[in-house]
Amino acid sequence: MRAMRLIKNSVSLALTKARAVAQRGSYAARRSSSTVYCLPSTVYFFPFAAYLLADGLRSQSALDPAGPQAGRIISLWWLMFYVTGAVFLIVMAFLVGALVRSRRPHRGEASDVPDVKPEPARERRMSHVVLTGIALTVVILFVFLVNSFLTGRALDSVSAKDHLTIKITGHQWWWEVQYENSTAQYVVTTANEIHVPVGQPVLFKLAATDVIHSFWVPNLHGKTDLIPGHETVTWLRADSDGVYRGQCAEFCGLQHAHMGFTVVAEPPDKFKQWYDSQLAPASEPANQSQAQGRQVFLSSPCVMCHTVRGTDAGSRVGPDLTHVASRQTLAAGTLENTRGHLAGWVVDSQRIKPGNRMPPNNLEPGDLQALLDYLQSLK
Ligand code: CUA
Repeated sequence: MRAMRLIKNSVSLALTKARAVAQRGSYAARRSSSTVYCLPSTVYFFPFAAYLLADGLRSQSALDPAGPQAGRIISLWWLMFYVTGAVFLIVMAFLVGALVRSRRPHRGEASDVPDVKPEPARERRMSHVVLTGIALTVVILFVFLVNSFLTGRALDSVSAKDHLTIKITGHQWWWEVQYENSTAQYVVTTANEIHVPVGQPVLFKLAATDVIHSFWVPNLHGKTDLIPGHETVTWLRADSDGVYRGQCAEFCGLQHAHMGFTVVAEPPDKFKQWYDSQLAPASEPANQSQAQGRQVFLSSPCVMCHTVRGTDAGSRVGPDLTHVASRQTLAAGTLENTRGHLAGWVVDSQRIKPGNRMPPNNLEPGDLQALLDYLQSLK
């Protein structure tokens, strides 16, 4: 009774949380859903499945393709799913048939006497069944082989002359995003949020500064590793607009699970608007508090790691903050970009993401508020 009650409660709790996530699309709500996992292991599965159905399938799922490569991958996946599912059902049917037969005593014999002299007709029938099974297995494996070979070739076929080139550098534990351009003043640098125009192929050049990471946007493509000292490339094309969550898919240290990012696919004119806004230097403080905040920023350890174009801060150890307020998340997809989260991150990021490279900042309350005003003005 108690177990039933627990299952019921946790399912309803998970559904409520999942509904909140679906309605608000809030990262914070997704994080609070982790309380669901603090239940006995017997009831893990149900809330987890509900959580995945409500959230995962919508925003980060290989089952919901939005580009040509993900489309090819999902076709192969469904082929394998249906074929192996059918094989499983057939094997189970034979197993159940065999179990039922073994419980029926043979005519004129005691049931525990072994069948040492099988009838030749039955033997022939059995060998036919086994041979058919072997032949079917070979044919199925061959179909899989040919299909996965063709899928592999198709995955590399996306390319175009007028493509966009984005260099992604993996750091422990965030993503540096740089839009390449032959003219230096048209290069855009940002972090953890990649904007792409719908319908245009994008060439991603992937690199890493420390350990191996893996670039994965399930709705658009499979995984490609980022290897220190060796540039890898991958092509993506988003065919429908939307926000697709990506995730580092190679264990890269303590905060590997908090190394997320988003791909924002938008119509070309909207993309151009975003690009132009990112090209601009940081906006000037609009009031006294923002001016004080900029002063706090420039006189604190912030400048040792971050860039704000248009000021003296030009370090590239941490993310470029020139337009930090225009981004949807903080700390590589870990937090929704709100004033409260920003404050918590600035003051003690180790509480939120232990082991990250950002030191704590002991700021006076007035200075902290001014700094937040300034950072939030960097749209
Ligand atoms: Cu980077 Cu896992």
